[in-house]
Amino acid sequence: MTIEVKDVDSLTEDEAVQALAALAAEIARHDQLYHQQDEPEISDADYDALRQRYAAIEDRFPDLVRQDSPSGKVGSAPSSGFSKVAHARPMLSLSNAFDDDDVTEFGARIRRFLGLDESDTVEIVAEPKIDGLSASLRYENGVFTLGATRGDGATGEDISANLRTISDIPETLPPEAPTTFEVRGEVYMSRDDFFTLNERQKSAGNKEFANPRNAAAGSLRQLDASITATRPLHFFAYSIGESSAVTGDTHWEFLSLLDRWGFSVNPLSRLCANSAEALALYREIAAGRSTLPYDIDGIVYKINRLDWQARLGMVSRAPRWAIAHKFAAEQAETVLHGISIQVGRTGALTPVAELEPITVGGVVVSRATLHNADEIERKDVRVGDTVVIQRAGDVIPQVVRAISEKRLEDSVPFQFPTHCPECGSLVLQEDGEVVRRCTGGLICPAQSLERLKHFVSRNAFDIEGFGGKHIEAFRNDGLIETPADIFRLANHADDIAKREGWGQQSLDNLLGAIEARRAVPLDRFIYALGVRQVGQSNARLLARHYGTYEGLALAISESTDPESEAYATLIAIDGIGPSVATDLIAFFSESHNRTVLEDLSEILEIEPFIQEESDSPIAGRTVVFTGTLEKMTRGEAKARAETLGAKVSGSVSKKTDYVVAGPGAGSKAKKAAELGLTILSEEEWLDMLGKVSTA
Ligand code: IVH
Repeated sequence: MTIEVKDVDSLTEDEAVQALAALAAEIARHDQLYHQQDEPEISDADYDALRQRYAAIEDRFPDLVRQDSPSGKVGSAPSSGFSKVAHARPMLSLSNAFDDDDVTEFGARIRRFLGLDESDTVEIVAEPKIDGLSASLRYENGVFTLGATRGDGATGEDISANLRTISDIPETLPPEAPTTFEVRGEVYMSRDDFFTLNERQKSAGNKEFANPRNAAAGSLRQLDASITATRPLHFFAYSIGESSAVTGDTHWEFLSLLDRWGFSVNPLSRLCANSAEALALYREIAAGRSTLPYDIDGIVYKINRLDWQARLGMVSRAPRWAIAHKFAAEQAETVLHGISIQVGRTGALTPVAELEPITVGGVVVSRATLHNADEIERKDVRVGDTVVIQRAGDVIPQVVRAISEKRLEDSVPFQFPTHCPECGSLVLQEDGEVVRRCTGGLICPAQSLERLKHFVSRNAFDIEGFGGKHIEAFRNDGLIETPADIFRLANHADDIAKREGWGQQSLDNLLGAIEARRAVPLDRFIYALGVRQVGQSNARLLARHYGTYEGLALAISESTDPESEAYATLIAIDGIGPSVATDLIAFFSESHNRTVLEDLSEILEIEPFIQEESDSPIAGRTVVFTGTLEKMTRGEAKARAETLGAKVSGSVSKKTDYVVAGPGAGSKAKKAAELGLTILSEEEWLDMLGKVSTA
């Protein structure tokens, strides 16, 4: 089991979303079994453990509180809670930068994307990153009409009544404000108010809050707004949602408008002429951080020009035009009791530090990653050492260094195992790789178990109610060995029904959930295989390109010959390239895998890939860009084309639909002409896209 799964502190936000969804469903199922069917499947202690884990994750990610949050139901009459609000524009999160290099790379990426050179000025607005929870406020005709939590970014909860109790939030806006106007910002509690509130909670015999952010979240989540009114909450405004009118050309102008309209804008925010100025502000604020009346966990940099923001768009759930530069991690000293080795899905051996439990940045840490053998050697970390550990944002705790002055006299350097601790197979390190891997493949129980877990995981087959624990237990008892066995579990129904903790109902639920996944979209199927370097995004690229499982399997088998056209096509898929191709070909040629694949393709219905944007004229079409583009960079052109459902390829073939040729286009344009393909100028291409809504 990986430490991410075990440890709430090391969950990323995406993992937390998944964990909350899975736990909420699990808890609801047990509630139903207990209350409606009088047929509990688990002990009260196990049930409490589920709820505790849920609450711990929710405490850490107050922004992610779900509509169906089981924690909201504790001790209160069944209540529908807050009503749902679909956000008119998604509420985004931010990608993180942890050091100056990440910030420099952010600037460089933006210049590349927009096609700017060093002489162009890129202004940046730097703002403190407030450690609270975000809210969206909607004004219609100048009147506050609706306030919502972020929720999952697409849908939040209506907390209008609670937000109205916050004095920083104006009830009305001046006539110059747009008819429809949404502003987003952070609800937070000052440290002093937090301590006072906790005193009050304590003397009233109520639960104290762990930190100001949790206190703000707990206060905002009150179903009774009169309780919220007694909690001293504040609000800093920092971004826009839906708006019926344009609000200036830059983010800086927007902030000054907000200020004029009566919102609180963080006074430390500053317009910086370049990233060096932004970094200087970062250092200044970091140094004075502890003297601020409220918690901040970094500085957010935002590209000032709004037209550039629009062109930069977003990746996943975060804008390309902003980044959060996190403050350095909090550190602590503790003793390293041992180093254990985890074996992952692809055989990678990860050393894990087993520590004397210690509190770092408000949470207890007892394990930390040591990354790999080289890292242990470089840092010369030894069992028995006193070590410095740190937590940086959402990342798993790390061992920073050993304190040599405190080293025990008889300590010895750590010997990394030469054989897999799980199956005894030889451990090898491939050329150019830092990772050491177990060579046991599927005969290694750890690898095959991790592969099975990956196969049923949320972004793969997503089999409801069939988590890692079940997989492990079923595998240990010989009920499943390969992924296809999961779809044959019905043959073992009697065995399962007799197992402890299983009844007819839960068995039926499981078999139903498995059956529901017998038809699987191609991209999920590819991802579920767990090929090295093929995550969700590469799985989608492959699915989009090959369309069907048969098409993919044939293409990969033909690609074993590096001279073949199939291989040339594979590596030309933008984003794939020779390294991923090598892993794919190796996976598809390995004999155990071939058996598994044949078995699966017979037992499953692998659905052809469906283009998401079917109304786009370029959906499903293959496009090649060649020559110089004048209106945008290659990166931007590629991102736009892919957003509209096109496949972008690096080479021209019979299968190419459009070749967009700018000045200086050479052999590719010539080949396109020979093949009689449609060749477009950049102008014609943009005209074609112009007919499509990119909103
Ligand atoms: S901008 C596209 N600005 O940080 C706009 N966010 O890690 C995205 N946050 O969900 C947000 N201070 O809750 C922005 N000055 C600031 C912020 C800020 C705090 C929070 C916000 C967001 C989270 C992302």
